[in-house]
Amino acid sequence: GAPVIAIDGPSGSGKGTIAECLARRLGWHVLDSGALYRCLGLAAHRRALDLDDGAAMGRLAAELAIRFDGDRVLLNDEDVSDAIRTAEAGPRASRVAVHAPVRGALLSWQRAAARRPGLIADGRDMGSTVFPDATLKIYLDASPEERARRRYKQLKEKGMDANLPALTRELRERDALDRNREQSPLTIADGAVVIDTTALSIDDVVAAVLAEARS
Ligand code: CDP
Repeated sequence: GAPVIAIDGPSGSGKGTIAECLARRLGWHVLDSGALYRCLGLAAHRRALDLDDGAAMGRLAAELAIRFDGDRVLLNDEDVSDAIRTAEAGPRASRVAVHAPVRGALLSWQRAAARRPGLIADGRDMGSTVFPDATLKIYLDASPEERARRRYKQLKEKGMDANLPALTRELRERDALDRNREQSPLTIADGAVVIDTTALSIDDVVAAVLAEARS
């Protein structure tokens, strides 16, 4: 199959940015798996469904039509790129991501994203569950303070509402939920290279990953 670089890590560790840069450098495709969970959380919220109902969330996940068009995310042909990035969208994504039927419904969809010349897969369980045979597995981390600061900056740059103390609290809660859930919890996958990005620039991290890819 096509080569895959799996990039996992907590919120604000830089996965999305690094994945985009790597894809551009290598001319590869990107899978933003978090966008799938964000779309599901958004769709469930809009339909006023119970996000804690695993069976209902699994059925919804199986029927949603999600497409990536450049940097836009389309949900049933509607551009939801901004709607899935609000401060509320992250916690909703985490809530629906705990359910086994949800993760099962999204598995083949994610695996189908691996295509030539290669895929950069960004998420929580890319190296552990979705692409256990990935060519390279990277685990990005950073201090909680730095991750909250990055998320704050990102929201502000988009002109969106952001409050640093609230973001810090939300990030801590979401980390705990992602790490402690039963289904594909956020962990360092077997064989993953851990990079602490707290004091590193984007270019530093991209260079470090490319060096690992070549070795
Ligand atoms: O951008 P950020 O890291 O904040 O979030 P994301 O990657 O868009 O993921 C949002 C949420 O979806 C995470 O907090 C996880 O609960 C869930 N997720 C997951 O369970 N598995 C993945 N492969 C990706 C995301």
